[in-house]
Amino acid sequence: MKIFSEKTQIQNAIKQIKTRDLSVGFVPTMGALHEGHLFLVKEALKDNQVVVVSIFVNPTQFDNKEDLKKYPRTLEKDVELLESVSKDILVYAPTVNDIYDGQAVAEEFNFDGLEFEMEGKFRTGHFDGVGTIVKRLLEIITPDNAYFGKKDYQQLMIIKKLVEKRQIPVKIIGCDIYREANGLAMSSRNVRLKEDYKEAAPFIYKTLKTAKEKFGTRSAKEVTKWVENEFAKHQFLTLEYFIIADAENLKSVKRKYKNKTYRAFVAVYADEIRLIDNIALN
Ligand code: PAF
Repeated sequence: MKIFSEKTQIQNAIKQIKTRDLSVGFVPTMGALHEGHLFLVKEALKDNQVVVVSIFVNPTQFDNKEDLKKYPRTLEKDVELLESVSKDILVYAPTVNDIYDGQAVAEEFNFDGLEFEMEGKFRTGHFDGVGTIVKRLLEIITPDNAYFGKKDYQQLMIIKKLVEKRQIPVKIIGCDIYREANGLAMSSRNVRLKEDYKEAAPFIYKTLKTAKEKFGTRSAKEVTKWVENEFAKHQFLTLEYFIIADAENLKSVKRKYKNKTYRAFVAVYADEIRLIDNIALN
């Protein structure tokens, strides 16, 4: 396994790869890897001759400094996990300085309003930070394909928008949400859940599945009310938002139309750990 900490090194390695006309797949991560990340890596390995994984906890996408401080950093274990999938993966694990040249500030983006929905309302500046780092990483790695999980569905739509608006020559591939056996969406934050909260957390997906059933016969407003009531009764989980939205423009739904696709999105606090999840409704 080759690990690069400087962009010039990985860029040289990629230049060599490109002269051999090999396709490059890219999986950007913030480390603390789990089966969900490995699923993205396996998808990338299926489609590409070379796979690059970046491991970088990006400071500019954290609106909460405490969350940034506590974000798990487990490079050695991450590398072992990647090695268990393939020894040929290239890992780019830069320092903040290598990425930001001493100026860790986010660029401002216009994502045609996608950035103001859901997560954008609760995490100020988050998507500017995500846009900044993903743009930089795509410029450094220049992959043919880049892989993102649908757990961060809004992020996925924003990255598709970024690539379209900035004309970055890469195909963005959204991969299905990878879940624990109990239904909890895999997340690097799950390891921080205390026992009671870990036991409670599968309630999130269970509620999403029931909301999906109800959406077949009831209005978005009725389903939303039902979900809010379910969480209000819950001892361990605090609902931040539940929204049924158009899957394309992420605007919350007032009326259902036959030719539209919808998704339900949820953000929940389990103690101080914030968990998000979503489900396709039709
Ligand atoms: O989804 C993540 O882990 C991060 O937001 C990403 C895309 C790696 C950018 O830092």
